[in-house]
Amino acid sequence: MLLTFGNSAKIYCLNWLDDYLKAKNDPVRILDLVCGEALNFVGLLGKYSRLVSYIGVEPDKHACQLARENLRGLPATIIENPAYKLHSKLEGKFDLVVSFSALEHVYHRLAFLQTAKEYLASDGYFLINYDSGHFHASRGKLKNIIGPLLAPFGLEKYYQSLVRESEFQRLIDFIGFGVVDQKFFNTQLKGVAKVIPPSEREAFNQRWLEYELWLNSLGIKYTDELGAIFETRNFILRHKK
Ligand SMILES: C[S@@+](CC[C@H](N)C(=O)[O-])C[C@H]1O[C@@H](n2cnc3c(N)ncnc32)[C@H](O)[C@@H]1O
Repeated sequence: MLLTFGNSAKIYCLNWLDDYLKAKNDPVRILDLVCGEALNFVGLLGKYSRLVSYIGVEPDKHACQLARENLRGLPATIIENPAYKLHSKLEGKFDLVVSFSALEHVYHRLAFLQTAKEYLASDGYFLINYDSGHFHASRGKLKNIIGPLLAPFGLEKYYQSLVRESEFQRLIDFIGFGVVDQKFFNTQLKGVAKVIPPSEREAFNQRWLEYELWLNSLGIKYTDELGAIFETRNFILRHKK
């Protein structure tokens, strides 16, 4: 049974987390940096409610309220805060840090990734993906122009800009993350996912993921230009030894 729908990168990460948790007996802490409405974690937390505790961090008040409703009764806490400067609000390390579809909206990217590094346990994993779909064709054009103009004045909530491959590689190398796994996803099938009848949703998402994993096995080298076709970049990182 799928743990989330409509985005093959997130399905891949949720499957990965499911496999990780299946092999665990001890409590596992998950930190979700920019959790939005936290819908991706309803299924996983329900399945592993005795094993897992989850903290979601999200800057938007309304999204926080929705996340608390979506996760009601599950072992979860939502903190309203940008995904950095968390010192007074978070304690201890986390076995898993995740961040989905967020980095492209973050202005202080170094601070954001340093936060993931700071809270990741020494043997933990950081699962991160980010999207390039907003920066191609006609989508999100106004926000692409206005957001970067406002962010230097402290108004970060409209910010979005392409995460270039060279920028990401430079940042994780500087911070001291090593790459365990890297893939590209969401090969322009996200639109198709929206029109699939509910009875075929599970089958569509399974086949979609298999297709994307097959594409990843072909040795195609990801570049910024390919972000127009493969809209999501996905990494699993660990502390560099
Ligand atoms: C596409 S949602 C992703 C949410 C969730 N991780 C998910 O996968 O559903 C993007 C999130 O980025 C947040 N966001 C927007 N601008 C931001 C900024 N400048 N800094 C940090 N987060 C921002 C929004 O509040 C929103 O929750």
